[in-house]
Amino acid sequence: MTIRYVGDEEMAAVQQVVESQQLWRGLAGNFVLRFEGEFGKYVDRKYVYALNSGTSANEAALAGCGIEPGDEVICPPCSFIASSLSVVALGAVPVFADVDPRTLLITAEEIEKKITNRTRAVVVVHLFGQSAEMDSILDVARRHRLFVVEDCAQAYDAYYKGKMVGSLGHVACYSLQQSKHITCGEGGIVVTDDPEIYQRVVLYSNCGMPWYQYGLEAPKPANGTRGHFAFGHNYRMSELQGAVALAQLAKIGEFNARRQHLVRIIEEELRDVPGIELAHANPETRANYWAYPLRLNKEETGLTAREVSELCQKEGVAVGYYNEINYLEEVFQEMERRRHTSLGCPLPPYVRYRKGTCPNAEEAGSRLIPLNTHHGVTPEEVRRASKAIRAVIEGRAC
Ligand SMILES: Cc1ncc(COP(=O)(O)O)c(C=O)c1O
Repeated sequence: MTIRYVGDEEMAAVQQVVESQQLWRGLAGNFVLRFEGEFGKYVDRKYVYALNSGTSANEAALAGCGIEPGDEVICPPCSFIASSLSVVALGAVPVFADVDPRTLLITAEEIEKKITNRTRAVVVVHLFGQSAEMDSILDVARRHRLFVVEDCAQAYDAYYKGKMVGSLGHVACYSLQQSKHITCGEGGIVVTDDPEIYQRVVLYSNCGMPWYQYGLEAPKPANGTRGHFAFGHNYRMSELQGAVALAQLAKIGEFNARRQHLVRIIEEELRDVPGIELAHANPETRANYWAYPLRLNKEETGLTAREVSELCQKEGVAVGYYNEINYLEEVFQEMERRRHTSLGCPLPPYVRYRKGTCPNAEEAGSRLIPLNTHHGVTPEEVRRASKAIRAVIEGRAC
């Protein structure tokens, strides 16, 4: 059972797009433009560009920072793979820095260990809707002149010292894929306060054409040419996506309240289970969980997260386990064997994608159960999943 979360408002907006006969944003689109305006107010950023996916947004954000072939970009190993493969897509080299085992978030200390004279940027993924420790990360970045890209695909409405994540680094990217806090099926967003980053993001996502908003002047095409000024893909968002995204943004408060209710159920059900640790709550941050990161003490329970997941599945309850260590995926193993990235950029000898590269990530990841807190999930489902985990750990049938 799912609670309906795409409804009449989205339907009416899509109908308006169809009636307008303007399905692409072009220069005359209305919905994507309005969505960008509203999203800018929401995250308190000056420049917003909407795209066709979060993966495109990751890539465009890095292009916005001027990342070039051969540059190194420091990434966390624990994330959906787009946060590191977007580096590869720009011809650059992802360098993985280890995480805080309590949260699986990248830390300033681990970033600093990986900086070389080729490092240009760091991607900070606010995993599961938790905020990374931003003051220390921004400090390292300032000292080493690095760009900070915040990946907020899983972190809408999460806060660090009272400021919304996505408003702290040089640029931030978001996803609007189905599982996210708001959705239009597929979609992405880049936000920044820097007009130069914004302009590079537009060029990269619009086949090199400077369709700038915000009163920014575009250069004039040379006589008789169409005006492609740089390398770029077509990563534009369509008006159909924009219409749905705009309607969803108006509902984000309601969706987040539902998610928070689900989190309270999880914490109530699992608070006193021996061998289970609730999500680590850093008092300087406020999480808005995309999924709830439950941690298992293997020594106490004698079970890995994967084993708990399999035992729950046997009882007919869908509970997953964490398995998103990017560099262990075959695509990185292939780069490790060939000693160059998928786009042919040589890997310096100190860049390794072998098992053991980030021990905290591997060890803490094996203890982690991400519980579904999507606003479309019912409280009963979440209670059932929590009770199943409790029963499995206590060694009895659900
Ligand atoms: C942390 C993170 N970054 C990037 C992405 C990429 O987004 P998309 O699936 O919209 O391409 C996702 C989506 O799953 C994500 O979770």
